[in-house]
Amino acid sequence: MKIKVMTKEMMYQEIAKRFVDTINTNPSCVLGFATGASVMGVYAELVNQYQNGKVSFKKVKTINVDEYVGLEPTHNQSYRYFMNDKLFNHIDIDINNTYLPLSTGNLEKNCQDYEEIIKSVGGIDLELLGIGTNGHLAFDEPGTPLDSLTHVARIDERTRMDNTRFFKQIEKVPTHALTMGLGSIAKARHIILLAFGANKAEAIKTLVEGPVSIDMPASVLKNHPDVTLYLDEDAASLLNK
Ligand code: GLP
Repeated sequence: MKIKVMTKEMMYQEIAKRFVDTINTNPSCVLGFATGASVMGVYAELVNQYQNGKVSFKKVKTINVDEYVGLEPTHNQSYRYFMNDKLFNHIDIDINNTYLPLSTGNLEKNCQDYEEIIKSVGGIDLELLGIGTNGHLAFDEPGTPLDSLTHVARIDERTRMDNTRFFKQIEKVPTHALTMGLGSIAKARHIILLAFGANKAEAIKTLVEGPVSIDMPASVLKNHPDVTLYLDEDAASLLNK
């Protein structure tokens, strides 16, 4: 894993540039996206790049890592709503080329279908990830097998607590989600993970200095040939220099 430490404003710029370069090299590329506070600035910068004529998303396909069970796409905390609101509504992407796991109906079937979709688009070229305070990726909580595929996951209580900031009350935070597995995420050709703030420092230390273990889901990335961690000083503050 490569580690880069910089301000969050700098990382938004650098990461967005990597996405723009990827698209301009291959206009039909497949991008992997996540949600959460950490990645919002990257989407804002991609909108900015689009508005300045630096990139077109006309042929791009996107695969999101997860979606809450029980929230309609129109619910303002669903990840479909987040992606439309933060990115897709502001760029020239074909909305039919934007995929999130379908979290209504037959969930087991939807999980299998999602793996088929990922395969049918040719896999993910560049994946953007955040990390939970407990080390989760997407909704792959501690204990998730490192080779797992898309599945229905129970959301950890710590994660529900963390995400209460979006829902106001913990009772409103869904208990389950559809999530790409750690195995499906790790198949992306290139991976970027960004983290900022002191509340991520413990997870980052365990990820960087600890072993590959199901107790630290993000450690699956240590076996991957091309991962870059973008950290700010606070998130990197517990690392042995
Ligand atoms: C959420 C999402 C993850 C995200 C993580 C961190 O629960 N399912 O995909 O990376 O938690 O979110 P944030 O960036 O808001 O700290």
